[in-house]
Amino acid sequence: MSDLASLDTPVPVIDLDIVERNLVRMQNYANAHGIALRPHIKTHKLPAFAKRAVELGAVGITCQKLGEAEVMAAAGLDDILISYPLVGAAKARRLVALTALATMRVAIDNPVALATLAQAARDAKAPIGVLVEFDSGQKRTGVVSVAEALTLIAQVKETPGLRFDGLMTYRSTPATASFIQAVKDAGVDLPIVSGGGTPGWDHTHEVAGLTEMRVGTYIYNDRMMVEAGAATLDDCALHVFATVISRPEENRAVIDCGSKTLSSDPMPGGKIPGFGLILDYPDAIIERLTEEHGMVDLSQCEDKPKIGDRLQILPNHVCVVTNLHNDVVVSRGGLVEGVWPVAARGLTR
Ligand SMILES: Cc1ncc(COP(=O)(O)O)c(C=O)c1O
Repeated sequence: MSDLASLDTPVPVIDLDIVERNLVRMQNYANAHGIALRPHIKTHKLPAFAKRAVELGAVGITCQKLGEAEVMAAAGLDDILISYPLVGAAKARRLVALTALATMRVAIDNPVALATLAQAARDAKAPIGVLVEFDSGQKRTGVVSVAEALTLIAQVKETPGLRFDGLMTYRSTPATASFIQAVKDAGVDLPIVSGGGTPGWDHTHEVAGLTEMRVGTYIYNDRMMVEAGAATLDDCALHVFATVISRPEENRAVIDCGSKTLSSDPMPGGKIPGFGLILDYPDAIIERLTEEHGMVDLSQCEDKPKIGDRLQILPNHVCVVTNLHNDVVVSRGGLVEGVWPVAARGLTR
């Protein structure tokens, strides 16, 4: 097994011990509070990690895209929630194929998506579970009123081949509990109420009525999660290893990774600059990216890296970084254990 120092850069490197710790910690939390864990695989897109989470006790997985679900189902993951509305005949056909491989659930928030599921249900090999999504403050998908939820729930219940399984929202907030209670007060039985989000994950049990949590970023964590207080630097499992390739000025270094490696996601809120945290030089700021290179401001650094030095960078937003790479290096104790293809990357459909 080779040393990490021998890897060519730029390269994403995952520490398997940290991944395992993160998976176990979340499963223990879910177990302790009697909440089902349904991890979102969009962060890693690797069947091996999805399987490990299920082995540890997860009830199934969450996918954001049918393409991700197809890869996971082909790898043997047999309980999958697609957490966004599917619209159109092409999506219905693909969902039918998935019902032959896995127990499928889909979240919807409108009658057109319901019609897509109804179409799929006509040819499906098994009933399709439906979760009605409500908005608990993110202003993304999700019905915004209890009345809308109740109408949609009634329509789901009347549709042959569909099974109403409950509610879904992202993220879980105090507004979540009151919405759930209002639907229950209307006499609706809710076998599943699925909430989510790594930020605030350890408060999920305080949201009354949730039966399931969907978390994704927790497996690797990133600079955003550290700033949000959801993780420490020691909980971060994926780093991009890079090399300083130029020092044109006293206070400027250029590194061999840019937006195609680190993504151009900034830190939210506009207060923390830079496109990643350089672990050995926390005062350095990756202030600008071109596609393949990063310009680093060293003016606040006492020690400055020299040409040829290798840097370990914690990405701002790790899920996007995963999606940029065909493969990732997996490591343990500073040694390379393998190179894994990121099987479900780039599948935007
Ligand atoms: C619908 C849904 N569920 C769960 C998650 C997981 O959230 P996190 O990565 O914060 O754990 C996301 C993330 O975007 C999501 O969109």
